[in-house]
Amino acid sequence: LWAPSDGETVYLRHRTTVSGEVRRVRPEDLQPGSMITVYPYRLSDGTDPERLHEVDITADVPVMLFRLQPGADVRKKRGQENFNHGDYYAFSAICTHLGCATPQYDPLDNISMCPCHQSEFLITEWARPVFGPADRALPQLPIGIDGEGFLIATGDFIEPVGPSFWELRSS
Ligand code: FES
Repeated sequence: LWAPSDGETVYLRHRTTVSGEVRRVRPEDLQPGSMITVYPYRLSDGTDPERLHEVDITADVPVMLFRLQPGADVRKKRGQENFNHGDYYAFSAICTHLGCATPQYDPLDNISMCPCHQSEFLITEWARPVFGPADRALPQLPIGIDGEGFLIATGDFIEPVGPSFWELRSS
């Protein structure tokens, strides 16, 4: 895991870069009921596309950033009550079953589905699994907003990212 522990702000950068352009994300970049994939990003990482590719690989986590519909029926997990910014929630995009990326979102049911073995995660309830073989929620990234109106990570994931056997392998 990475952590914004050195005092430098960690922004959320939209994954798609056009000709090396770095796009930090503002709340208004998402419509209600939408999701984009973002990567943690520091301004000191620069704008060089090759460097950014390196950052993407080493960040270890694509992150799904959701803007829920206003008034969505949200239940928060104890200890994660302040991880959201209004209707904005961020979760690891790495499936906790076998590690596929899960960047799919059905805003009608607030479900994110993994395409590999069809695990489904309920975004309005801390991305807990509600169908399929995954037995652990997608870790939530705490987010907030900086003085310029950009969404930022306010801390690290508090749970391991990916399947539990990744932890065993790295220990
Ligand atoms: Fe996601 Fe198997 S890797 S359900």
